[in-house]
Parts: sequence; structure tokens; C-alpha cells
Amino acid sequence: MEGITNHQEFVSMPRIGDQAPEFKAVTTQGEINFPSDYEGKWVILFSHPADFTPVCTSEFMTFASMQDQFKQANCELVGLSVDGLYSHIAWLRTIKEKIEYKGMKNVEVTFPLIEDIKMDVARKYGMIQPNEDTTKAVRAVFFVDPKGVIRTIIYYPLSLGRNFDELYRVLVALKTADEFGIATPADWRPGDDVIVPPAGSCGTAKDRMESGSDDMKCYDWFFCTKKLDKEKVLDKVLKK
Ligand code: BEZ
Repeated sequence: MEGITNHQEFVSMPRIGDQAPEFKAVTTQGEINFPSDYEGKWVILFSHPADFTPVCTSEFMTFASMQDQFKQANCELVGLSVDGLYSHIAWLRTIKEKIEYKGMKNVEVTFPLIEDIKMDVARKYGMIQPNEDTTKAVRAVFFVDPKGVIRTIIYYPLSLGRNFDELYRVLVALKTADEFGIATPADWRPGDDVIVPPAGSCGTAKDRMESGSDDMKCYDWFFCTKKLDKEKVLDKVLKK
């Protein structure tokens, strides 16, 4: 692959199911110990390439505007870029005082934004992807559960702003899977049918295909869904 270099020294990629790597960091809201400060809560750790850039500004305004929605689902937000604290403070002040975008204005970012000038945290979390950029973090998103386990990782390139409704959907789906012992099908949203555990774990395939129960539907022996009320989902997801 001509023109592509392997930068092995940068490579540390936490994986789904791993304990989130620990670090201490200075943020716009004081020092944090990650993930221990967030024990008992969900937390989304996300990186952006640089302060004072347009895509990142649109993302911060959107995420900050949705912060209460995430908080109600017991989820905190923590941002990171390889800029310094004073850059972060100046950028967040500019966002609050000057930027009006898509009906959002006076947007105050009250979640912590990590300064990571030495790229220690960014490297630990595989946020520096050198064939994309050697000096900026990509747009990484880590969903960490109340026990400090990484449950979902999503990466976007520098040029692509994230969809924060999708990030909220992911959080709700993860919590729903934990609470109800189910899986969620493509494009699932609360109120849609959910996937029940594979045959063998409860009843035989034949039982299931013939069960005829009102709230369960089998498309084949390996693919059964059941109803799960939106209210039940929201009740559980918004509590814990
Ligand atoms: C942006 O946020 O607009 C951006 C940041 C780094 C590279 C490209 C775009």
C-alpha cells in the first residue's frame, strides 16, 4: 500500500468488553480520575480533532444541548482533544458568547473537556490514528458502563460530524439489553420489537415456532422477536 505508513508506536486500542484504561486528567471542570469518578454511571468519553474548528463547534453545541437528556439516562459526557486548557476555555467561551447555529445560542458546555497536550490519553484510547492525522485525535466515542467496562466504540474521521441522536439511541439500546436480557435489531428504537435470546436458552426451536404467543414472533428457529413496551423501556432506562 504505497503512501501508507504503519505507525506502530501509536497503537493502543482498547476493545469492547475491556475495562476502560485508567487516567488522571486536567479538564475545564477540574481534575478527573477516569473511569473511577463515574462509577455507578454511564459515561461517554469522546474526542474531537481541534478547538476552534467548524465541525467540532457544531458537535459541541449539539451535544451540550442534549446533555440533560443524557443525564436523565444516568449518562455523563467527557470530551477530549489534544489542545491545552486555555484554548478549551477560550473556545467554549466563544461558543457561548458568539455562536448562534441552527437555533442553538448561549450554549454553555458544562461537561468536562480534557486537555491532552501530550496525547497521553488519546494514545491510550487509540484516538490518534496516524494515517488520518498524526497530530489530532479522530472523532472517537467510547461508551463506558457503570462498572467501567467499554461497551461500544465508534470512530469517525475528521471530516464527518457525528449524529448525536444515534449516540443516544446506542445508550438506550445498551441499557435496554442489560435490563431486559434481550438484543436489539437493526434501527431499533424504544417501542419496537426486540430479539429474544437464541433457541436452546429457553425452550426448543419447535416450541418457539409453535408457541403462537401474542407478543412473540418467530421468523425462523434462530430469529424470534417479542414486544417490549416503550413505557417499560423508558421507565427502566431513564431510572438507572
Ligand atoms: C472541524 O472540526 O471542522 C475539523 C477539524 C479538523 C480537521 C477537519 C475539520
